[in-house]
Amino acid sequence: MERKTTRISPDDIAGQRAYCAEIKELNARFDRAPLAYVDTYGCQQNEADSERIRGYLAEMGYAFTQDESEAAVIVINTCAIREHAEQRVLGNVGALTHTKRKNPNQIICLCGCMAQEPHVAEKLRQSFRHVDLVFGPHALWRFPEFLWRIQTRRGRIFETADDPGSIAEGIPVVRQNGIKAWVSIMYGCNNFCSYCIVPYVRGRERSRSPEAILAEVKELAAAGYRDITLLGQNVNSYGRDLEEDIDFADLLKRVNAVPGDFLIRFMTSHPKDAGEKLFDAMASCERVAPVIHLPFQAGNNRVLEAMNRRYTREAYLEKVRALRSRIPDIVLTSDVIVGFPGETTEEFEDTLKVLEEVRFDALFTFIYSPREGTPAARMPDPMSKEEKSANFQRLVDLQNAISLEKHQAYVGKVLRCLVDGEGEDPRNNLTARTAGNRLVHFTGDKALIGAYTDLKITGCSTWALFGEVVE
Ligand code: SAH
Ligand code: SF4
Ligand code: F3S
Repeated sequence: MERKTTRISPDDIAGQRAYCAEIKELNARFDRAPLAYVDTYGCQQNEADSERIRGYLAEMGYAFTQDESEAAVIVINTCAIREHAEQRVLGNVGALTHTKRKNPNQIICLCGCMAQEPHVAEKLRQSFRHVDLVFGPHALWRFPEFLWRIQTRRGRIFETADDPGSIAEGIPVVRQNGIKAWVSIMYGCNNFCSYCIVPYVRGRERSRSPEAILAEVKELAAAGYRDITLLGQNVNSYGRDLEEDIDFADLLKRVNAVPGDFLIRFMTSHPKDAGEKLFDAMASCERVAPVIHLPFQAGNNRVLEAMNRRYTREAYLEKVRALRSRIPDIVLTSDVIVGFPGETTEEFEDTLKVLEEVRFDALFTFIYSPREGTPAARMPDPMSKEEKSANFQRLVDLQNAISLEKHQAYVGKVLRCLVDGEGEDPRNNLTARTAGNRLVHFTGDKALIGAYTDLKITGCSTWALFGEVVE
């Protein structure tokens, strides 16, 4: 693709950090640090964006809270992928009128993908007057400037103009924990799957430079991070907009060469662009985890074409074979949409056949949700809600049976797992992840958190494995 990516200059980022310093000075007049509340919806890309919002907020002198009512600044980072996600956000943002009534100086910000949808921005403007600041992903790098303007002048700010997008390096980051990290390698999407809002709200595909990515990975590895996930809507397009001749498989090899004790994951791979070069790189890179998320969306070729996915069911199955011939124990997960406009129950059954043939370890299943402005939202959609729900249930039941069988095959094995946190079940106080990212519940010393440990798998459910520490 011949398009130059706009890169935000280091001076511009320095300018934003100067606003952080000014706000920090304003905040210094309080006895203790004012609090900020950041809530994130949606995908890992949004999680990664929220880490930057927290990074800026920390630099402005805010501490963090989980309680909206005591926050001086509230940031809601939103997702537009399905109607349900949007309704939840609007409900929760609506409820903030109460916290603002008690604390009229509270600053309420809404950012992320919903902000980039014109009809949502309009609704916020008209009906959510307690929201002070609305900005889309393209304007995130300017968050300090917006907050400064809100604090020093009257009025609301809407920064939601459509934009092909840019790349900003050097924004400070506060990560959620010291074990697992997200590293964005590219932003945006050019695929325009006919149902999907992402290309409209996240702009065109653009890649970070390999130098910037490697510097971040090196820093994380040196800081002891154990699990690094490379993020992009379609990581297989990595590098197409760069002058340097580099693709995602080349990048994986370079990341693999960074010293440290960590595993590398990535998401998401579009099946049309995932090929033998990538599979070979995965097989040869010892740090790359034996797992891939390869969304197939639908098993019927007419539906795939209407979705503008640009592969056939046969091509997808062939890729799975090519992958398994190189990495036989690869953990394979996928996304499926049920009830795409015009999909018949007979066509849906082709999706079930793909499940039976591939036997995914886990599946993320969605009922189609029309998104304003996308081609699919204008397609005739005659199937009733009840029929879609019935098909959805058949899909879930089949996958649950497969997931359980897949998990049963782990019982008795000893696996090196990363202990990643505390569990909610008091009988199993810790959680861990296998290299293939399966969840394991077990009992052990909290000091193990952040370490790799050998676990013997003793039991399982549809959703998780149960294990014990091998002494
Ligand atoms: N870039 C990723 C997907 C990001 S969205 C990829 O291409 O794989 C995550 C998932 O949400 C998609 O894979 C799809 O299964 C689902 N999804 C996207 N738009 C949707 C819609 N309008 N209705 C229902 N599910 C949708
Ligand atoms: Fe959406 Fe398709 Fe892009 Fe994924 S590849 S973000 S599903 S348009
Ligand atoms: Fe949602 Fe935006 Fe991610 S729409 S899925 S948060 S890219």
